[in-house]
Amino acid sequence: MDAFSLKNKTILITGASSGIGRSCSVECSRSGASLILVGRNEEELIKTASQLSPDTKVAIIAEDITHSEQIEALIADRVAVLGKISGFIHCAGIEKTLPLKKHSPQLYHDIFEINVIAGFEIAKILSLKKYKDDTSSFVFISSVAGMVGEAGKAAYSASKGAVIAGARSLAMELSRGNIRVNSISPAMINTPILERMFEDIGDEASSEIIKKHPLGIGEPIDVANACIFLLSDAARWVTGTNLVIDGGYSAQ
Ligand SMILES: NC(=O)c1ccc[n+]([C@@H]2O[C@H](COP(=O)([O-])OP(=O)(O)OC[C@H]3O[C@@H](n4cnc5c(N)ncnc54)[C@H](OP(=O)(O)O)[C@@H]3O)[C@@H](O)[C@H]2O)c1
Repeated sequence: MDAFSLKNKTILITGASSGIGRSCSVECSRSGASLILVGRNEEELIKTASQLSPDTKVAIIAEDITHSEQIEALIADRVAVLGKISGFIHCAGIEKTLPLKKHSPQLYHDIFEINVIAGFEIAKILSLKKYKDDTSSFVFISSVAGMVGEAGKAAYSASKGAVIAGARSLAMELSRGNIRVNSISPAMINTPILERMFEDIGDEASSEIIKKHPLGIGEPIDVANACIFLLSDAARWVTGTNLVIDGGYSAQ
């Protein structure tokens, strides 16, 4: 039996309509999982579904997870069809690089709402016996910005630090329900979020950032492979940790 297999596991992935979440969806399907894909853009979620391994059982939830009164009912519906959930990746998130003087309370609020609160609220639902399999693994996508300082990132870094710290506490609380909880901190990964950030900060600052990655900029699959490990039984004794996937960025 392959310890890294996700066969017979149903995994819910937020942010599945783009970038890292799309890659996690494709790679989890290749490892044998059934999937619940979550994001706002239904067309892009359908595009992700079309890229999955043939015969993957898949359901879609097209919803803004920061303003959803119905998220539990929508999850309950999908669980009735696909079975109880044994994995969760919270990959939905937004990034803003702005000088501190341009930060506003609303900016902090908007970033925390999706990066932190929406993920922990879904974790609350997925930790209920009626939705969770006998064992389960939750993975929160944080960022190296939650560990090391980066100019212009006060709100974003604070949100990602909160994800790392909150995931650690969830690991303590949920272990008695056989739920493992970990975070992953990637450095720069080649996705639409990165393209937007490079537009915000300009060419010079962008090439400085690229130079700080000894192994170059990462690809979404580099994060997806780490997720597969944490979701699989190969990581059955791994909880409360933050796995850094950063091409050497934070080693300097
Ligand atoms: N790319 C990087 O360099 C990098 C580095 C470190 C960490 N990360 C983290 O990795 C995660 C994914 O980033 P990415 O690069 O893949 O970004 P991306 O391509 O922009 O994808 C972001 C995803 O979040 C979803 N999302 C945003 N707001 C939402 C909301 N209110 N409700 C539901 N879904 C929402 C988007 O879906 P819809 O548009 O369909 O709603 C989209 O699928 C983020 O948490 C990011 O902070 C990225």
